[in-house]
Amino acid sequence: MELSVDIAGVKFPGLFMNASGARCVTREELLALGASRSGAIVTKSMTVDRREGNPSPRYYGFPGGSINSMGLPNLGYKAYADLIPELKRFGKPVVASVAGLCEDDFPTIAELINAANPDLIEVNLSCPNIPGKPQIGYDPDASERLMKRVRKIVTVPMGVKLPPYFDPAHHKIMGDVIGRCGVDFLNLINSVGNGLVVNPETETAVIKPKGGFGGLGGSIIKPVALANVRAFWRHFTGRMPIIGTGGVMSGTDAFEHLLCGASAVQVGTALVEEGLDVFTRLESELAICMRQKGYRTVADCRGRLKEL
Ligand code: SIN
Repeated sequence: MELSVDIAGVKFPGLFMNASGARCVTREELLALGASRSGAIVTKSMTVDRREGNPSPRYYGFPGGSINSMGLPNLGYKAYADLIPELKRFGKPVVASVAGLCEDDFPTIAELINAANPDLIEVNLSCPNIPGKPQIGYDPDASERLMKRVRKIVTVPMGVKLPPYFDPAHHKIMGDVIGRCGVDFLNLINSVGNGLVVNPETETAVIKPKGGFGGLGGSIIKPVALANVRAFWRHFTGRMPIIGTGGVMSGTDAFEHLLCGASAVQVGTALVEEGLDVFTRLESELAICMRQKGYRTVADCRGRLKEL
């Protein structure tokens, strides 16, 4: 089964790749992704300065999902700029995920990272875990300002990773904003921000930062992810490449993302829980699923969700 895909003119040898944050902070983790079946190497979202992130425990997996409040632990953008040439030797796309703690950080990082020539840049407008910093993607004016500033700098395909939206009015507002900013692809969705998982035995939250509030991932968020993929697929009438992220634990989950309009999928919780072998499993499960349904390529089923 042919599972290679094209996103914004860049060829991905496989449609499964790591979600930013999952096993992609250090050089060793990034090299391991390069050697794995991941269809790309997506870096941890980088900030100007190196960060240790939030205090532990800051990730917790449970049946059905995960909660995290990592707080953007990363090596700092200069270290990732230095690593990009080495990562490109694996012959698969390198996706640099750019974050920031204030608006001015984004163009600063984008400039140096763009010069290091990753295959794509993903602008993360949706980290829910920095105390006192709301998710930029929930502020359409700030998102527009920021994307336009980064767009002026970036010469490789530029995408944005958005938080989930829960109302069609918000899909429309953000879709219109994105349409004005020269965005080449979307990544939908980041974790569902500020959930709270409680351990009734200990009568505590399961993670420490922000009083236990953190981003939810895994199966429990799949319907929210699918709805966002579908809503933006429709907004852009299928002409905006979308990476679907959220709840991809099996090949069938990926198939559902494709039906809703995704061109590729990212894997977060399942990669953290299962390790790099997850990519081989997901590829073979998706191939079986597509074959059973008579689809021969990813393009054959993309966006083909039937309405009742
Ligand atoms: C984190 O590092 O807290 C997660 C990053 C993100 O959700 O964008």
